[in-house]
Amino acid sequence: MTTLPPASADQPLLRVRDVAHRYGQRTVLQDASFELWPGEVLAIVGESGSGKTTLLNAMAARATPAGGTVEFRARDGGLHNVHRMSEAQQRLLARTDWGFVHQNPADGLRMDVSAGANIGERLMALGERHYGRLRATAGEWLERVEIDPARIDDTPRTFSGGMRQRLQIARNLVTHPRLVFMDEPTSGLDVSVQARLLDLLRQLNREMQLAVVIVTHDLAVARLLAHRMVVMQRGRIVESGLTDQVLDDPQHPYSQLLVSSVLQP
Ligand SMILES: Nc1ncnc2c1ncn2[C@@H]1O[C@H](COP(=O)(O)OP(=O)(O)OP(=O)(O)O)[C@@H](O)[C@H]1O
Ligand SMILES: [Mg+2]
Repeated sequence: MTTLPPASADQPLLRVRDVAHRYGQRTVLQDASFELWPGEVLAIVGESGSGKTTLLNAMAARATPAGGTVEFRARDGGLHNVHRMSEAQQRLLARTDWGFVHQNPADGLRMDVSAGANIGERLMALGERHYGRLRATAGEWLERVEIDPARIDDTPRTFSGGMRQRLQIARNLVTHPRLVFMDEPTSGLDVSVQARLLDLLRQLNREMQLAVVIVTHDLAVARLLAHRMVVMQRGRIVESGLTDQVLDDPQHPYSQLLVSSVLQP
């Protein structure tokens, strides 16, 4: 994707500096530094075990890193260290300005409550109590993510994998977040379902000025969605840049390998 985010985006939305993480004695992430701009889609790619999910969780304050800082530009314009916020502030952020789309939709949905309630929950957390409005908004979002609004009272348990993933996206976007973290949102879906979901994400990114950090092992997903990408190997960012630049002219041997292995017949 070559179109750059809007020029008004002159201040980073998220600033990641020297983030590191360990599990026990083992360092699985180090020296992760980059910035994310408002409305920008950033892909994190790399082999299994390279630290993508660890990095994403640290960025989204779902885990406290062993080192480094993650700062978010709040609506007040100030940069705030997300790991220094109180739990209450983190929770508020997580259900207003941020979204998190899990690889496995069952981790991001309440499987035993209705689709409508899944979408309404974040709105209710923000104080919306009017049943009619909640239901109308939920119906609109179902349509927006191409789920038949007649399914509003069904639970996600009765949905297909693709529908669950789209419901998870609706549940996250209903509060108009400015930043959504996604961990492999399209893996496990068949190719045609994947393509429609990617189309939807592109459209929402454009319409809502939504910044997205998307973890993917699929370079085609990065190509289609991301303005910029970072390539990870063994816990380090080995290359970063504009998506087209990295994919067409990779500089690091590992990125070269990644790109060439995808192009093999
Ligand atoms: N809870 C955990 N306890 C111990 N080690 C962990 C834990 N979670 C992840 N790791 C290790 O940290 C490293 C990075 O894992 P991570 O899940 O971030 O990789 P990933 O790039 O997301 O991989 P994948 O593409 O398979 O999802 C791996 O070596 C993994 O084994
Ligand atoms: Mg992962």
